[in-house]
Amino acid sequence: MSSGKSPQDLSMAEVENDVMAQVYANLSAIYDVAFGPVLQGGRRRAVATMGDTAGRRILEVGVGTGLNLSLYQAGTDVTGIDYSSEMLDRAEARVAREGLRPRLFQMDAADLRFPDDSFDIVYAPYLISVVPDPVKVLLEMRRVCRPSGRIVVLNHFRSAHPLLSRVEQWISPFTVHIGFKADVDMTALFACAGFVPDWTEKVNRPRIWTLAHCTCLPRPE
Ligand SMILES: C[S@@+](CC[C@H](N)C(=O)[O-])C[C@H]1O[C@@H](n2cnc3c(N)ncnc32)[C@H](O)[C@@H]1O
Repeated sequence: MSSGKSPQDLSMAEVENDVMAQVYANLSAIYDVAFGPVLQGGRRRAVATMGDTAGRRILEVGVGTGLNLSLYQAGTDVTGIDYSSEMLDRAEARVAREGLRPRLFQMDAADLRFPDDSFDIVYAPYLISVVPDPVKVLLEMRRVCRPSGRIVVLNHFRSAHPLLSRVEQWISPFTVHIGFKADVDMTALFACAGFVPDWTEKVNRPRIWTLAHCTCLPRPE
């Protein structure tokens, strides 16, 4: 499915899957220390806002080392996908260590190998900044989410402050080398994907990450 919109419209930085895969292969050994506690408040809040998830089918897109996996309520039917085999190896080790039972697959978020309407909740924690075409990823997330299901995005987006926004756009071609674009434009992203968030809130400290909840609307014919 094509997004019909160039990723350059959303960010000054360009990334390719294979380059990002190498970045995350290198980061995987230190990921939990570098990005665990500092981003965990947002992960906890995201999962808490999903409400009662027992018996519901959740797809976590960009599951990484599995830092969200222990947060789901018992009885939640969790599937996680990630492009990086090294990150998935860490997630699998966590699953074994903590006695969790998600299904984990290596997959591209822009090309999900699931049928339409497969999940009740589709959740992308800290993923949107690391993919080549974030609009395409949102459209795939919508495809695999059942109508009226929930799409949950947790991410850092470009600041609304004019000066900070300039700085983020300027540094973004460099921050991709440590695993993320600093300047993805949230308003343009959701508009291009045809999503209207039900609500957003700022999370983590400093409060520069955003949690966005969207209702999965029926796809246009
Ligand atoms: C910043 S980490 C977030 C990991 C995890 N969600 C968390 O909360 O810590 C981004 C993850 O997205 C994965 N990723 C990057 N490009 C991807 C793609 N095209 N499809 C699926 N996963 C991808 C990376 O391998 C990495 O595990």
